[in-house]
Amino acid sequence: MAKTKTTFFCQNCGTQYPKWVGKCNSCNEWNTIVEEIIQKDEKRNWKQTGSTKRTVKALKIQEISISTEERIPTNNNELNRVLGGGLVKGSVILLGGEPGIGKSTLLLQIALLMENKVLYVSGEESQSQIKLRGERLDGNNQDCLILTETKTQNIFKSIESILPDVVVIDSIQTLHTDYIEASPGSISQIRETAAELIKFAKETNTPVILIGHITKEGAIAGPKILEHMVDVVLQFEGDRNHTYRILRAQKNRFGSTAELGIYEMLNTGLREVSNPSEILISEKDSDLTGTAISASLEGMRPLLIEVQALVSTAVYGTPQRSSTGYNIKRLNMLLAVLEKRAGFRLGAKDVFLNIAGGLKVEDPAIDLAVVSAILSSNEEESIPQNVCFAAEVGLSGEIRAVNRIEQRIIEAEKLGFEKIVLSKFNKIANKNYQIEIIRVSKIEEVVSVLF
Ligand code: TYD
Ligand code: MG
Repeated sequence: MAKTKTTFFCQNCGTQYPKWVGKCNSCNEWNTIVEEIIQKDEKRNWKQTGSTKRTVKALKIQEISISTEERIPTNNNELNRVLGGGLVKGSVILLGGEPGIGKSTLLLQIALLMENKVLYVSGEESQSQIKLRGERLDGNNQDCLILTETKTQNIFKSIESILPDVVVIDSIQTLHTDYIEASPGSISQIRETAAELIKFAKETNTPVILIGHITKEGAIAGPKILEHMVDVVLQFEGDRNHTYRILRAQKNRFGSTAELGIYEMLNTGLREVSNPSEILISEKDSDLTGTAISASLEGMRPLLIEVQALVSTAVYGTPQRSSTGYNIKRLNMLLAVLEKRAGFRLGAKDVFLNIAGGLKVEDPAIDLAVVSAILSSNEEESIPQNVCFAAEVGLSGEIRAVNRIEQRIIEAEKLGFEKIVLSKFNKIANKNYQIEIIRVSKIEEVVSVLF
């Protein structure tokens, strides 16, 4: 007889509690604890017919032979770039993104482009819906099979007869397993079905790609634990009202997380954008004064941010200083540095600063772009559109080094910039960049670089 049991889970972080509490002790969120019914059976294997018992011997680290991981090519350069090559055999990839951003489209398109046998399991759309979508996309993989099923045991039965090279699951939130009573999309179902799929991937050396929905806050719905369990976490993002989409790796056990893939959503699916400068350059009107682009990091992610400044003669006695998205104290400090170290008379001027897109930036590397935008507006001279900045400005007017500089350079290069202004003190290991790197050490040098 199976035991019936209920437990309480935090819907935010996935922590388990034996009884209900008002506040989660681990993530400090209120009212996130929800009861879930669990029914556990002893036999919990992806294969119903007995498991392959394999004993692993502990080895000395010197004795372990390195086998370069085998990869299956995806025939999609942007995805390959983000993954650090093709799909690693036996790896589990989680693709997150907001509803309607194009996750299903991306994966169906890749399934149709590949030369291997792909099983596309959908719990969200019917087979004919998927066929209709597939007809709009190019690629005609004869070995792309579509299955509409949500029970993992049935999925594994199909897998055993089909023996696919790659499995795509759309989406993890629709799956459920027999061994747990809770409804699909609940923490315990997500955790359990993901664990079964991961076990399957590792035992059969088959790559599995999971689609995961994103909550309002931008986290993958369901417990954070899912992100720890999988090998690769990809994020598909962009504005639904614009056509460009960015694919980033938040975590990658087989490659770097500094790479990003850019796509354009067309009527015929997602087009790879291999020359990203077309996005930024075409969107900008030429020669505006008071704007500068910063190669910043938001959390772990590199992001090119536009800083806008307006400097004008103060009409009232005391000049106004206003800042949106940037610390006002830091702005005042930079203005004092400009006045004292570079001789700009800003004391009698109003200064307004704005970070475009409603972003709030804490990364100190934006300082140099802020200073440049202010100078540009003050001097009525525009900064060339192909230049971006990444450095901190110190109290004595020195340009300071910032962290993860390679990531910023790669992002700027990827987005089509031709020059990046950095601190002289930043050490750069890999020097094979296409982008021109301009190094400055003092604020005066910035002025001569700019104008
Ligand atoms: P979809 O892949 O269903 O999003 P998700 O799985 O992330 O929820 O993408 C749906 C959107 O993509 C929809 O608004 C229509 C658009 N789309 C195109 O613009 N062109 C196409 O060729 C396809 C298939 C979809
Ligand atoms: Mg979808």
